[in-house]
Amino acid sequence: MLELSSISDLRSWTRAEHAAGRRIGLVPTMGFLHDGHLALVDEARRRADSVVLSIFVNPLQFGPAEDLTRYPRDLPRDRALTSSRGVDLIFVPETSAMYPPGSEVRVMPGSIAARWEGAARPGHFSGVLTVVAKLFHLVEPDVACFGQKDIQQLTLIKRMVHDLDWPLEIVMVKTVRENDGLALSSRNAYLDPADRQRAVVLSRALQAAHEAWRAGATRPPDLEARMRQELQREPAVAAEYIAMVDPERLAPVETVDALTIIAVAARVGGTRLIDNIALGEGIG
Ligand code: PAJ
Repeated sequence: MLELSSISDLRSWTRAEHAAGRRIGLVPTMGFLHDGHLALVDEARRRADSVVLSIFVNPLQFGPAEDLTRYPRDLPRDRALTSSRGVDLIFVPETSAMYPPGSEVRVMPGSIAARWEGAARPGHFSGVLTVVAKLFHLVEPDVACFGQKDIQQLTLIKRMVHDLDWPLEIVMVKTVRENDGLALSSRNAYLDPADRQRAVVLSRALQAAHEAWRAGATRPPDLEARMRQELQREPAVAAEYIAMVDPERLAPVETVDALTIIAVAARVGGTRLIDNIALGEGIG
């Protein structure tokens, strides 16, 4: 497995791959890899000849009060995981390479970013789209894989690719979970054992909504009440939002159906966690 940190080296590699007729698959990450990230790698492998995984803790997408400096990092472990999973190249740039002094142009997301995570984290999605746009230009992937776990991010990236006529395919990979249902996340590393136990209530609440829907409930307030009932079993878990939205624009729906996305954000101790399901699929 090759490891590059320079933009010009990456460009040369990309050009050579394309010249040799190989399809490139890209998996952007912030490192501290887990099985969710590796599921994206597997999907990229299925769809491309060469797989690039980027590891970059993107300062632009962190708010001033967020966890940029304490975001978990373990590059040696990430190297071992990616090379054994068949990644061809990891791209690990320095912040100064991605944002040299004077860099100031940003991608502006549209109205899809106004709600949910975008409302809770001002500027977050502009930071995400800016770094993803840069990575798309540097790697020129034919396909890029993103997780359902971050559904609003995925929706915005699809929107950007569509609106800016980017010739690449965005593939969604289903959320990978722990055995008890907790969605894998690098931020789970912040949870102490008690909070780790409590955190499972997010997926339980989603599962409860799924079951209520299968039993005939279609009104968002009824499903939300069912979810809050579940969440209240863990008083130390503070729900921030429960969203029942359409999959294209993530706007609230009046009646749910199989395509409706139910998303939840909650604070567990000092850690903010998110999760979601497509109602027709449950937590799968
Ligand atoms: P990060 O949180 O490292 O996630 C990288 C990718 O892994 C994202 O597409 C995310 O949705 C996916 N992912 C995370 N947990 C997952 C899980 N349990 N199952 C399936 N996929 C999962 O998301 C980011 O980094 C950044 O915002 C990034 C896109 C890299 C831009 O900086």
